[in-house]
Amino acid sequence: MLGIIGAMSQEVENLKEAMSEVTVENRAGMEFCQGRLKGRDVVVVRSGIGKVNAAICSQILVDRYHVTAIINTGIAGSLRNEINIGDIVLSKDTLQHDMDATGFGYPLGVIPQMDNSVFEGDAHMIQVAEECCAMVIPEIGVHVGRVVSGDQFVSDIVKKAWLTETFQGYCTEMEGAAIAQTAYLNHIPFLIIRAISDKADDSAEMQYEVFEAKAIEHSVKLVMALVEKLI
Ligand code: ADE
Repeated sequence: MLGIIGAMSQEVENLKEAMSEVTVENRAGMEFCQGRLKGRDVVVVRSGIGKVNAAICSQILVDRYHVTAIINTGIAGSLRNEINIGDIVLSKDTLQHDMDATGFGYPLGVIPQMDNSVFEGDAHMIQVAEECCAMVIPEIGVHVGRVVSGDQFVSDIVKKAWLTETFQGYCTEMEGAAIAQTAYLNHIPFLIIRAISDKADDSAEMQYEVFEAKAIEHSVKLVMALVEKLI
């Protein structure tokens, strides 16, 4: 069973419509849609926004549905000039940029008393996702790099520069690292797939409104192909 999480309803709507044999269950205010997608057993769910929602959602996927891998699909703000609106970022790894126990002697982003704070995306899932990109969205730029997550919509050039310099992030969003941490703690592989909706700078809010739908279209196309190809 494969778990597929989107933070917002627009990010999972099309996937749900393409499913068959669907059964729906509500838990923690989230609607878990179990069924078949492209011949695979999947659970598709909208987690809601932010790391807490994302972590709760992921743990329910593990405990209740026994998922063996999690895909997180959605949009993100670009942290690099060469990553354009509409491009795809696949998570080489991910961390929480708002984890700050520096006052306690830990480096920024490091979770106190955990053996790991940078969670690696599954190498096989990344490879298959890259192949799928070449097949279904060949005109779109694809980047494999670090996704930095925090409970913050980044729309400030100074914050953006800080994220790039401090963490070498490729894109920023609000759920990925929480999903990754849950997957890590439960020993299952994960992949974050993010399409760029904005540049996380002072015009991010305006760009987001214009490009959100197009970006979501790219990530949905990719997820459909990936579900079919992934073994
Ligand atoms: N999701 C899409 N764009 C984002 C941004 N700029 N910051 C955080 N999450 C986002």
